[in-house]
Amino acid sequence: MKILAPSVLSADFSRLAEQIQKVEEAGADWLHLDVMDGNFVPNISFGQPVVRAIRAVTSLPLDVHLMIEDPGRYVDSFADAGAQTLTIHLEACIHLHRNIHQIKGKGLSAGVAINPHTPVEALLPVLGDLDLVCIMSVNPGFGGQSFIPSTMQKLASLAKYRQLQGLAFRIEIDGGVDLHNARALTEAGADVLVAGNSVFGQPDPAAAVRSFKALLG
Ligand code: DX5
Ligand code: ZN
Repeated sequence: MKILAPSVLSADFSRLAEQIQKVEEAGADWLHLDVMDGNFVPNISFGQPVVRAIRAVTSLPLDVHLMIEDPGRYVDSFADAGAQTLTIHLEACIHLHRNIHQIKGKGLSAGVAINPHTPVEALLPVLGDLDLVCIMSVNPGFGGQSFIPSTMQKLASLAKYRQLQGLAFRIEIDGGVDLHNARALTEAGADVLVAGNSVFGQPDPAAAVRSFKALLG
């Protein structure tokens, strides 16, 4: 089953609970929460208090994407705030293997994200430790950017490594996903589609979720 994970980054933050409940009712599978520190990425979004508040208003799994330097410092607090999946950036970790096992030690699914310029081969030493790999298809930091076409090939090669090694991690694609490219992305190997602007940036986010779900089957 393909997973649709709307990103609240494009939601109306003054009506967050209401907007989340609407996409949940419409069939969203996960909720994607983008945490930005103004250091690893040029933007600042929100932290643990907002994750905790969202945890209280939805039963959807929370897919927390940490765009922060040295994320090992915050694994415990985001786990305690209610994350189910915690995804850290390869580029932000000196001790990536240790940080992955910190996440797993808290009983969470462990994800690693890679920026558009990072080859999937950089993940090979830790692939067997992962529950999820997030391929960034925009430069992280902002919603509503255009999909970078060269990342499509990265999906296909990651799916091939997964098959060759008999692994079962999920492949997530994050950035510029919309109704036009969704099918091609799942065909190339994506299991989880993150959608910010194409869900919460639309006049009717629930209708957008239904369109994605109809398309993905
Ligand atoms: C970007 C974030 C994305 C963002 C996606 O740094 O990681 O999750 O919300 O937004 P769209 O779907 O609008 O590109
Ligand atoms: Zn994200």
